[in-house]
Amino acid sequence: MKLAKNSVAMILVLTLMVALFAMAGCTSTATTAAAGETTVAETTAVAATGLDVGVVLPTKDEPRWVQDETRFTAALQEAGFTSEVLFSQGNSATEKSNVEALITKGVKVLIICPQDGDAAAAAADAAAAAGVKVISYDRLITSSENVNYYVTFDSIAVGAAQAQYLVDKAAGKTAAPLYLYAGASSDNNAFLFFEGAWNVLQPKIADGTFVIKNSEEAIKYQDKATLTRDEMAAIIGQITTNWDFNEAKNKAEAHLTAAKTEDKGDVFILAPNDGTARSIADTFASDKDVTSFVVTGQDAEKASVQYIIDGKQSMTVFKDVRSLVDDSIAMAVSILKGETPETTGSYNNKKVDVAAKQTQVIVVDQANVKSALVDSGYYAATDFTGLK
Ligand code: BGC
Repeated sequence: MKLAKNSVAMILVLTLMVALFAMAGCTSTATTAAAGETTVAETTAVAATGLDVGVVLPTKDEPRWVQDETRFTAALQEAGFTSEVLFSQGNSATEKSNVEALITKGVKVLIICPQDGDAAAAAADAAAAAGVKVISYDRLITSSENVNYYVTFDSIAVGAAQAQYLVDKAAGKTAAPLYLYAGASSDNNAFLFFEGAWNVLQPKIADGTFVIKNSEEAIKYQDKATLTRDEMAAIIGQITTNWDFNEAKNKAEAHLTAAKTEDKGDVFILAPNDGTARSIADTFASDKDVTSFVVTGQDAEKASVQYIIDGKQSMTVFKDVRSLVDDSIAMAVSILKGETPETTGSYNNKKVDVAAKQTQVIVVDQANVKSALVDSGYYAATDFTGLK
């Protein structure tokens, strides 16, 4: 059959339109792409084959999560997975749309470190509804039945190690001023860190070694060896840094302004992580009535390692993200093979017990900073000055 020239042109236009509509159904990506953007053709190709693994991390603004991203990018490539790593930038709505974007791309295993444990439940539920397996990474997604596995450090041990460091440095002292700070209440880890610390500090508050100087809520419960979640929530609510450097600084400044001279001197500070420790340490260092301070941290961020070398931060808890990333990738491999991943215990997420794989942590201070972090190949000696 012969068609008129106009009809051929019309059929071509219609075919093109149908094709474009079909593509638009698969993706929300624009049909034109600037340099570096994904074209419809590329996105559709991904949707057709699917992503093996998608990773969603809380924020690029904390070096801790950049360490994880670097390791993930290398390890996922090494494992031969098609993958994508996205950041939520401290926003649960962005986190949810990141998860939806990965679901649209056909992700099979989602590794997610929630910004807010409860808020991430909706993202986990959406993933499960699409048949995606969910691995909660470092922080537990709470209030959802749809968390398949949890890969984590031993967070109670992190808090206990921070507290033990303070206790060891306060040996022989009485009524030593103690300042307490915590992470964000929306992060289940903040509770685990605080619980671990309280287990070690409380007996030393009870025997008069330490006196709490900055939290009426903590003072209210200081005779209780074990706290309920609600009691911890009340204390954390008062001493939270929200994992935010500025909030940590403002809170420390307010505490020092309110404190009397005799509440200062040689002080002991429980700081929940490295970022907040540096802010809090700088604030205490600039108060003329603080003669010395011992301050904790965690994550072994480069800036804090330098602070430790320089004597500006006392310790950190090294959480080797290489192990955590490798554990979660090994888990993804098992899931994709249809096997049951190896786990070492479980964590209750307010709805279900989530099977978990847990990794140990290492205490680092001036005495072992070189062997633990440089000789082990984690950082290069050239990243620091004054390393002995
Ligand atoms: C992580 C810490 C981190 C903190 C703030 C916690 O859940 O376990 O390593 O410093 O969040 O991002």
